[in-house]
Amino acid sequence: MPTPVEIAPAQGKLGVLLVGLGAVSTTTIAGAIAVRRGFAKPIGSLTQMGTVRLGKRTEGRSPRIDEVVPLAGLDQLVFGGWDIFEEDCYAAARTAGVIEPSLLDRVRPELEQIKPWPAVFDQRYVKRLDGPNVKKGRNKRELAEQVMDDIRRFKADHGLDRLVMVWCGSTEVFLTESEAHASLQAFERALEASDPAIPSSMVYAYAAIKMGIPYANAAPNLTADIPALTELAAQTRSPLAGKDLKTGQTLIKTIIAPGLKARLLGVEGWYSTNILGNRDGEVLDDPESFKTKEESKKSVLDYILQPQLYPDLYEDLCHVVRINYYPPRGDNKEGWDNIDLVGWLGYPMQLKINFLCRDSILAAPIVLDVALFLDLAKRAGMHGIQEWLSFYFKSPMHAPGLYPEHDLFIQLMKLKNTLRYLKGEELITHLGREYYD
Ligand SMILES: NC(=O)c1ccc[n+]([C@@H]2O[C@H](COP(=O)([O-])OP(=O)(O)OC[C@H]3O[C@@H](n4cnc5c(N)ncnc54)[C@H](O)[C@@H]3O)[C@@H](O)[C@H]2O)c1
Repeated sequence: MPTPVEIAPAQGKLGVLLVGLGAVSTTTIAGAIAVRRGFAKPIGSLTQMGTVRLGKRTEGRSPRIDEVVPLAGLDQLVFGGWDIFEEDCYAAARTAGVIEPSLLDRVRPELEQIKPWPAVFDQRYVKRLDGPNVKKGRNKRELAEQVMDDIRRFKADHGLDRLVMVWCGSTEVFLTESEAHASLQAFERALEASDPAIPSSMVYAYAAIKMGIPYANAAPNLTADIPALTELAAQTRSPLAGKDLKTGQTLIKTIIAPGLKARLLGVEGWYSTNILGNRDGEVLDDPESFKTKEESKKSVLDYILQPQLYPDLYEDLCHVVRINYYPPRGDNKEGWDNIDLVGWLGYPMQLKINFLCRDSILAAPIVLDVALFLDLAKRAGMHGIQEWLSFYFKSPMHAPGLYPEHDLFIQLMKLKNTLRYLKGEELITHLGREYYD
């Protein structure tokens, strides 16, 4: 039997720092409180409902994940966050319009207590937004110090034991890695000089990681996935995860594509279009923010279908992704996929998918799981990129030189095997010879 990893107990309170109190954050917070109070069920959350099989199939051992590894309970969570708007979490949840007022009103007092701290914000990085609740500072280093002060104050005021941070802010404009990101030294110089290569999201990420706080990115923008911040995470032993939550159309894509490939069905074209009417949709209406999202959405099929190994099936695949801002639909996104398939002897077929989803309803359980699993990783001494959390992301962070794993089922196996490894249980390979020997 392998030896279990030593994991510090999940004692005391866990502070969950959310950057941006928009649709995703408020749905996460209101949802976690509603579940805690017994008003609703945490559907879609592995940490709250998932099980993990241990040992042989004949043993019948499938405990709940939270019985296998020590996770913080919902009643131990305290939420805090930043936004460029001053609305408290209740008002922000009403603006987002995801959860019905009748349920929000039942958790209203708790939500009203969560008032966003002034944000680090610069419109250069999110062109469609502007708001009054913004920090001022001499340079970006000073702004990072102010974020660290907010975190220290929050920790002291609520007597918190540990913290995690998740960026749930708007998608920033497309940026590529540059010299300012190459090392921690270069990054800190760039903070001092307020280098434009450092968007607001990186200022928060730097502040969290500097304090040894686990950090995840729920959006597709370049944030913690730069050498400077992975170097800092190694120094401060902070776990990292990201990026861009796998919800909606991409979730379905990473469920369907592995199935088609498993049966070696060819794909000639995959046309994906969406209508979305929330603030995220409005931000993504800006071509520069959309480019960040498009990059994140488009790479998925290449990695899953592996055209370099199967040129006859996937080499000329035409993959188109569109997001259309359509206000009447609010957070209730509608996605259409048309897949042009090729079968035996080259015969064409078509598959149409029409997904009427609720974006933030799919995203909230992920934010909760990622926060709880990152806290677990920290207590288990795991730091740097947590590839086992790829399951939750459209563009999973990965070590340099590795390709990211996008197949949802491989990702789930990786996640559950990591839990078995932490617990000192045999990993499950699904070979199963022993049942027939
Ligand atoms: N909803 C989903 O299913 C989903 C899936 C994947 C990724 N995402 C990403 O998650 C992020 C949040 O999505 P959402 O639907 O909640 O969007 P939203 O527009 O409702 O919320 C984002 C919030 O972030 C705030 N904000 C922007 N810049 C900020 C800054 N520098 N500091 C503090 N606050 C800032 C905005 O004011 C807004 O309130 C987006 O980037 C989105 O692309 C969402």
